[in-house]
Amino acid sequence: MIFSLSQLSPVEAKANWLLIGITEDGEFDETTQALDEALVGSLTRMKEREDLTGKAGELTIIPDVSQLSADRLVIVGLGKIEKMKIGGFGKAIVTAVRKIASKADQSLNICLPAAAAKALGEEAALERIADVVTVGCSTQGLYKEEQDRHEFTSVTILGAEENKQNQDAIHRGRILGEAINLTRNLVNRHPDDLYPDSFAQISADEAAALGVRGEILDEHMLEDENMGALLAVSRGTDRPPRMVVLKYEGGGEGAPTLALVGKGVTFDSGGLSLKPSAGMITMKSDMAGAATVLGAITAIAKLKLPVNVTGYMGLVENMTGAGAYKLGSVVTARNGKTIEIHNTDAEGRLVLADVLAYAVDQKVDKIVDLATLTGACVVALGEDVVGAFSNDQTWCERVLNSSREVDEDIWQMPMYDFFAEQLKSEFADCKNIGSRWGGAITAAKFLEQFVDETPWVHLDIAGPSYAESKSAHQDAGGTGVMVRALVRLAMEN
Ligand code: BES
Ligand code: MN
Ligand code: ZN
Repeated sequence: MIFSLSQLSPVEAKANWLLIGITEDGEFDETTQALDEALVGSLTRMKEREDLTGKAGELTIIPDVSQLSADRLVIVGLGKIEKMKIGGFGKAIVTAVRKIASKADQSLNICLPAAAAKALGEEAALERIADVVTVGCSTQGLYKEEQDRHEFTSVTILGAEENKQNQDAIHRGRILGEAINLTRNLVNRHPDDLYPDSFAQISADEAAALGVRGEILDEHMLEDENMGALLAVSRGTDRPPRMVVLKYEGGGEGAPTLALVGKGVTFDSGGLSLKPSAGMITMKSDMAGAATVLGAITAIAKLKLPVNVTGYMGLVENMTGAGAYKLGSVVTARNGKTIEIHNTDAEGRLVLADVLAYAVDQKVDKIVDLATLTGACVVALGEDVVGAFSNDQTWCERVLNSSREVDEDIWQMPMYDFFAEQLKSEFADCKNIGSRWGGAITAAKFLEQFVDETPWVHLDIAGPSYAESKSAHQDAGGTGVMVRALVRLAMEN
């Protein structure tokens, strides 16, 4: 999709669609006034009749506007000016984009709303427009013959200067949107299409295309690396596990390394602690952490950020085959700790235990892990908020801030030591589950045992990484949550 900036007036600019945003309060801005005049007061009348209120997400399509050079006018409500934030602005724009992208071979002009430029900054608003247009017209119909949404033939943003800063902002937005789409696509792939080896191959191809150094560890190499916890999870399947390591070195030698660690369970049946069907149906998405890491690294590399970032993805399938690990089994993790298995459905933490220990052994400076780790986190925070857990408050604040800056909802959870007591075992150094209560925290306390003193933040994305049903602003399926936050974190590293 080609994006450009233009100074043409919205009345005169040709396109199949013209998209404008209006706020809930105040007068029409200059652009809207000009359009209203050309439309001989039609917008004013609609406003007076309260058919055009500017409420967040309100969508009005006028499919025939002969007085304008564009074929059709789309007006989206941006809500109240004083409440305007980058996330809500993006949601409003993407709502409109998703609606009109249903027709193929269409060109789109978007007016940069003056209120958004003022409240959010011109560049940030442009970046988010390019980002959500890229996300909004991509389709989730992976396995459908007919796609329900199409890219535009061109996207022209009106009302912002054609200078380098603005062009760069649009470029950043497109890269972010593409990275989010990559993550979503991987999350949506069915588990016999995306499994540890195919995921590893896709990662290797992405890395090669970007000049990122990539390494795939197969089951024998994982054995050599003593990754007994990860290997235990993968014993119930014929599909061998993989660990992918992607090294992006934009910061040069001696610069600190940020490790991004992802849980990549390509299907989680629960193992012998089998999940009921209702809980298993979405478990193709249990690799969302790894997909988020891959998405973020592609964006970081395309943006040529001056940082060193290494991605570690632990890829396994959790099944019930004859060799499956059992309840009561004791497995030995890479760092020598023995773990008594009390529930084979608490597999993500076993995978992460070894991958985290591996990253620590590589002497990375800081760690963020991403995992669809616990249903308990969804109970605690709901479906749309990321849970953050950390052993280092300073590092945690930076991760939280990066999320806030891009407006991805996140909440820090406590890490009181007494939660770790629930993990004591009679037969091994620890067991892999605690009691029912505070399950997201005991999972994080379990992981903490494998990061030593390295500043670490664990992000439980079990809720927000996958939308069970579609809404006006997003498809059902993978959401790409935290890709923006991770890229922002790398920018500020
Ligand atoms: N992958 C699941 C967590 C999950 C649940 C992700 C719902 C997305 C939506 C994880 O492996 C799991 O099964 N966790 C168990 C842990 C329990 C056995 C301690 C859970 O949350 O029930
Ligand atoms: Mn599980
Ligand atoms: Zn899982």
